[in-house]
Amino acid sequence: MISLGIESTAHTLGIGITKGGKVLSNIYDTYKPPAGEGILPRKAADHHAELFSSLLKSSLGNAGLKMKDVQLISFAQGPGIGAPLRIGVVLAKYLAKRYGKPIIGVNHAYAHAKISELQTGLESPLYVYVSGGNTQLLIEEKSGFHVLGETLDIGLGNLFDTFARDIGMEYAHGSALAKLAEGGKYVELPYSVKGMNLVFSGLLTSATRLAKTEPKKDVAFSLMETSFAMTCEAAERALFLTKKKKLVVCGGVAQNSRLQEMLRMMCSEDGVEFGAAPADFNRDNGAMIAYAGELIYAKRKNRKPVEDWVAIQDYRIDQVR
Ligand code: FE2
Repeated sequence: MISLGIESTAHTLGIGITKGGKVLSNIYDTYKPPAGEGILPRKAADHHAELFSSLLKSSLGNAGLKMKDVQLISFAQGPGIGAPLRIGVVLAKYLAKRYGKPIIGVNHAYAHAKISELQTGLESPLYVYVSGGNTQLLIEEKSGFHVLGETLDIGLGNLFDTFARDIGMEYAHGSALAKLAEGGKYVELPYSVKGMNLVFSGLLTSATRLAKTEPKKDVAFSLMETSFAMTCEAAERALFLTKKKKLVVCGGVAQNSRLQEMLRMMCSEDGVEFGAAPADFNRDNGAMIAYAGELIYAKRKNRKPVEDWVAIQDYRIDQVR
């Protein structure tokens, strides 16, 4: 089935096309907030609305297809930031109506997990899902996804973005912070793991305070080392509990090479296979939505009419059935 996927949950608009899990096209464009600012939801929504038709054209062109060839419209239904998320939903519904195509809403975290499983070839692993808004340890069972542990406050990505903004970095995001952290020295920061749950806000407060007296490079390095070590500890506990022999890291922060290195080291000590999808499938992208749409549509018996689909801003992966 040829599925066209629309991703718009945050600052990236992605339009991807898959056919039976094969990625035919994966085009995206990311809204960049003004220097020193976070995502302005209204501006991100404007960005997505303005670029939608040109990205759709490029995505279809890359796949060598026309709209008439598309058999399913898949869209990210949530979780996400209200304004940009709703733009994607409205545009998906417009396409479904205009071209008379079936439509399916997809949970964004589910899509990250399933495209990573496909790309790594590691079936039914322990998923370490790390993104801006979320940090979760997940397993999939017949009844759906289960959250074994998660952040009790902010996600890893938000931790890095907020710290970067607080110390006055012009481009406040994880990859810029990772660059700053290169060659830094370790300074002590609070470490807070509660079973398989994680708490990052105390770490953020301490790091921001410490950055006023210590070199920013050292604090950035230590913030990443500490939060990644916490994530590894919680993940290792989940591995022991579930007896899983495969681990897949997914989501935007999964692109971080140091996090991958630390998880890989932990896995090799425990005799666990480690996998991470290529960066284009860990950033927010349309191909993962298209692929997840194919999976869900194949299983779904009662298909909802176009007008009944709405965005769910706080849509949790364990609500997907
Ligand atoms: Fe994401």
